[in-house]
Amino acid sequence: MLKEQETAATLDGKLVAKITRDNLAQRIKEHVDHGRRPPGLAVILVGDDPASEIYVRNKVSACRQVGVESFFNKFGAAAKEAQILECIDKLNADPNVDGILVQLPLPGGLEADRILARLLPEKDADGLHPYNLGLLMSGKPGLRPCTPLGIMTVLDYYAISVSGKRAVVIGRSNLVGKPIAALLMQADATVTVCHSKTADLPAYVKTAEILVVAMGKREFVEGSWIKPGACVIDVGIHYVSDTTNPEAKPRIVGDVRYEEAKHVAGFITPVPGGVGPMTVAMLLSNTFQSYEKRLSLR
Ligand code: GUN
Repeated sequence: MLKEQETAATLDGKLVAKITRDNLAQRIKEHVDHGRRPPGLAVILVGDDPASEIYVRNKVSACRQVGVESFFNKFGAAAKEAQILECIDKLNADPNVDGILVQLPLPGGLEADRILARLLPEKDADGLHPYNLGLLMSGKPGLRPCTPLGIMTVLDYYAISVSGKRAVVIGRSNLVGKPIAALLMQADATVTVCHSKTADLPAYVKTAEILVVAMGKREFVEGSWIKPGACVIDVGIHYVSDTTNPEAKPRIVGDVRYEEAKHVAGFITPVPGGVGPMTVAMLLSNTFQSYEKRLSLR
C-alpha cells in the first residue's frame, strides 16, 4: 500500500494496447503468409457526431496498422432503420467480414437495441448483441464489450489481482458499467454498482480497492474520496477548450480529478493514454478472435 502524497503508478493503456496490437499484427501476418485472407472489420457510422467521427477514424487507422481490412459504411443523420438493417444483413452474409461495429450513440429516432440485435452474434466485434451479453452474464466464453475487456486486460498486464477485493463501479451503461461489473464479479471481486441516483457516492468510493469510473461527468471524482492505495480506472473522456485561445488544441480529461487522485491512489489510468487505446485494441482482438473461429469452420 502506498503512503499518501506518493504518486500513483501509471497503468499505461497506450503501452498495453501497443503490445496487444503488435502481437495481433504478428499473428495476422502468419495467416496471410500462409495464403489466407486478412481479417475484416466493418464499421457503421450514422450521423455526424464529431467525437464519433474521431473514434471511428482511430479504429479504421488501427485496423490498417495491424493488417485488418476495414469496410467503412457511413449514413447521414436522417438514415432510416431499414437502410441500416439492410447494410447489416449484407455484412452478416459477407464472407470477408469477421466483425461488425455500429458506432454509438446513434442519432435520435434510431433504436440501438434493435439495430445491434440484427448483427450475427459471431460477428459482433463490440460484444453488445443480447446473445453475447447473455454469455457474459452467465460467465460463458463469448465476445466481450471492448472497454470492459480492455480494463480487465490492463489489470491483468499489471498483475493487479481483483479476487476478493472490493470493487466499486460508477455508471450503469450497457457499454461499460454493467459489463465491467459482470467481468469483475466473474474475477471474484465483490462489486458495488453506483449511478446517478446513488446517495452519498463519496462514501461508496471510499470503500473501493478497485474503482472504475464511467459516469461521463468531467473531473467529478475528487482525490479526497479515494481510498489510499486504490486502483483507479478512469473511463471518462472530455475535450476541454482553452477559452482564451480558440486556436489551441483541446485538453483531454477524464471523470476523475487526476492531479488530486494521483497523490492518493496506488495505481491510476491517465486520460488520455489509459482506457481509450485499450478499447480500440480490444476491438481488433475481438475481430481476430471471430476471424480465427470462422476460418476453422471452413
Ligand atoms: N461509443 C463510445 N464507445 C464505444 C464503443 O466502445 N463501441 C461503440 N460501438 N460505440 C462507442
